[in-house]
Amino acid sequence: MKEISIESKLYVFDNLEALPDQAYNLMLKAVEARKKAYAPYSQFHVGTALLLDNGEIVLGNNQENASYPSGLCAERTAIYYAGAQFPEAKILQMAISASSIKKETKEPIPPCGACRQTIAEYEIKQKKPIEIYFMGHSGKVVKSNSLENLLPLMFNKEVL
Ligand code: THU
Repeated sequence: MKEISIESKLYVFDNLEALPDQAYNLMLKAVEARKKAYAPYSQFHVGTALLLDNGEIVLGNNQENASYPSGLCAERTAIYYAGAQFPEAKILQMAISASSIKKETKEPIPPCGACRQTIAEYEIKQKKPIEIYFMGHSGKVVKSNSLENLLPLMFNKEVL
């Protein structure tokens, strides 16, 4: 038996204002999208903004349902919309902001596992890394240069 270690590199910005201009503007759009989330059951609002290589910005937020599993996360709402509307475009950047009505979310909130798997599919399909920025309601912002940092040992179509 031998031990292996896996390294993930992430970058932490002290606040929204510390982001480079393009990412800052995208995060502001994610925050706006977050405010339009339909989340009456969890009261946990998530917004996502995608910057595509054709210049389009695609927004998404979580959409809940009385039948809970029928709802969808913000990240997948945005990614599937981008895939449906602009199938040839590559996603350059993704900004995510999450906020709970019930408690303060100052720490950066990363995308859930199912969303990471979805982002992985598109990153592999477009053969280009997606820059991902995530934050809570306010405070620090974490940046990953690729989904790979958030999903080591990802399941990949090569094995099918
Ligand atoms: N949610 C997202 O939109 N993205 C995530 O990555 C995690 C969770 C949503 C789903 C649900 O509407 C609410 O947050 C609570 O789980």
